[in-house]
This record gives sequence, structure tokens and C-alpha cells, in this order.
Amino acid sequence: MKINKAEEQLLRVIIGIGRSNRKANKESISTAGKHYYKDNFSNLNSAYKSLIQKKFIKELNEEYSITNEAEKILKKQRADGFGKMLVRKEKSEVYGKFCKMLHGKNISQFNMMNMEQLNKLLELLEINEHQRVLDLGCATGTIAEYISDNTQANIIGIDFAETAIKWAQERTKSKQDRLKFITMNMDELSFPKNSFDTILAIDTLYFVEDLNKTIQKMKEILKKNGKLGIFFSQMIKPDGDKEILLPDKTQLAQALKKHNLKFKTWDFTESEKEFWKKSKTIAKTLKNEFEKEGNSHIYESRINEAKSILKFVEADRISRHLYIVNL
Ligand SMILES: C[S@@+](CC[C@H](N)C(=O)[O-])C[C@H]1O[C@@H](n2cnc3c(N)ncnc32)[C@H](O)[C@@H]1O
Repeated sequence: MKINKAEEQLLRVIIGIGRSNRKANKESISTAGKHYYKDNFSNLNSAYKSLIQKKFIKELNEEYSITNEAEKILKKQRADGFGKMLVRKEKSEVYGKFCKMLHGKNISQFNMMNMEQLNKLLELLEINEHQRVLDLGCATGTIAEYISDNTQANIIGIDFAETAIKWAQERTKSKQDRLKFITMNMDELSFPKNSFDTILAIDTLYFVEDLNKTIQKMKEILKKNGKLGIFFSQMIKPDGDKEILLPDKTQLAQALKKHNLKFKTWDFTESEKEFWKKSKTIAKTLKNEFEKEGNSHIYESRINEAKSILKFVEADRISRHLYIVNL
């Protein structure tokens, strides 16, 4: 079931108000909506009615809350939008140039794993043609394809961004014997137990609803003697405890320990700090080219992400580690 712009705005405002533990009544919704959407804020009169009819919101004593059904629809819309953006990036020549300059090679990376880090991951995991590998949050599958091309391993990539997965399937049609892409949510991994020799999670575990639950599931679907390879950057807010940056204290480390998973770590914190400085500089260098290509939004997204992460870098409030778990 689709939702229109006014309905989406109403749902998002109710969620936002709920997150700050305030009551979502018509007055607070209107104030927050105008603040957030400014001139784009829609007239919500009919949205209240239609969302109640669709059972996407509930009203009790003039207070509104959203239903699980609505949360699912919003998640799907967000994933769809995100998937489209991932495909646009992969098709952009200038983004390819950006990746080559930043990561050392263009495999349309979406994040901070450069070739030095990928090579370390591959060296430690010893992936080969006899292995079945799962890549969690594979985006358009370019990293999975690169690994499979270089090892002949059988890789399944999953991502909740359907457009990205469809594009990955199309691009790798001729390699179906060793590459498969499936639209799936990391919060609901549905593979049988003992399915994989190796599971990769390259900058994806930040997005799961419940890290403990996902780690538990990853443990279940991994074969005996299987391996996990996880890249994880930990950031902390100004009032947060810096100890959490230590490799055995991060949110990931805590979840792994909870499931009795022993791990080794490799520190890429310095490489990460350099990465974000370089990312900003390279994006600026390519600004005009992105504009000419009609992809200013890619430039904007890169520069904004770099700026926001550089705040953590400058305050020494970030660490990055590669975690290898041997079951
Ligand atoms: C930072 S990107 C990393 C992509 C890729 N692993 C890489 O290193 O280039 C995070 C990816 O996780 C996906 N993702 C986020 N939340 C997800 C979820 N709940 N289930 C499945 N995929 C998810 C996003 O669509 C995106 O492709």
C-alpha cells in the first residue's frame, strides 16, 4: 500500500515527537511539522483520516501513535529511495573517479573500506572457491562481485534496498553460478542453520534494530569453524565514555562477547581519520565534474557525510576496527 506526501509527513512527525518522549497531539504535530518541513509542510487534514482508515495511525485521547504496519511501509520507502541513490552512484563516472582516488580502486564502494582494508580482510579470511559466503548489506554488490571474481567463491549478497539488489542481479547475470543477490532485511535473516563458511558485514551492523539479535542469527547460520569478517567504526558523542572506542569495548565487541564469540581485531583508526580528510578534499576537487554530470546531490552527500564524521575525528571520538571471529 502506497502513502502520499502528506501521509508520509504526518507519520514522520509523529515518530519524531515520540522519539523525544512528547505527546503527539494535533497541536504538537503542527508545530513540529512546520519546524521540520517549513514551506513544504502539507495540509494534514485528510492525512489524519486516511491514515486512520488504513490503520497506519491510532488515536487515543487526542494523542496519535503509529502502528507496526506503518513502520514497515516507511522502512520500505526509505530503503527504496536509498537503493535508487546507490544505483545512481554506481552509474556515475565521476563517482567512479572519486572511488578510485579515495579507495585506491573503483569498486563503487559506499563507505570507508579502502583497498588496504579489503586486502587485509581477504588475507585473514582466506576465502576460496569451495566456500559459501554471505555479504550482509551488500548495496549494489560490487564488493561481493570483486571478491568472487578474485576467489571464485560462491557469494550471496543481501540488502534491504530492492533497487540496488535488482541492479546487482542484472549486472552479474553472467555470473549466476557463483553470485546471488537477494532483497532481505538484516533484522530478519532467513537462512537455514549452518549455511555459510564466511559472513561479511562491511560497515552495515550500525543499521540493525537489535545488534544482539542479528549477531545471534549470524552465529546460527554460520557453519562450524566458520568465520565472520566485520568492519566496524565506533563513534561517541561528546558526553560519551571514550572507553567504548577500545576494540574490546565497542558496541560490536559487547554483542560478540554476549554470544561467547571470540574475536581478534585489527586497528584501522588512523587510516579512518585520514580517510575522511581525504574524502572531503577529493569531493571538493570533483565538485565541478559532479555538477557537469548532473550529480551535484552525490557531491553534497559525500561532502556532508565527510563533514559530519570529521567532527568526531577532530574530537578523537572515533575508532575503526576489523573484527575476525573464528567459530
Ligand atoms: C554503509 S552501506 C555499506 C555498503 C557496502 N557493504 C559497502 O561497504 O560498500 C550500508 C548498507 O546496508 C544496507 N542496509 C541498511 N540497513 C539494512 C537492513 N536493515 N537490512 C539490510 N540492509 C540494510 C544499506 O542499504 C546499505 O547498502
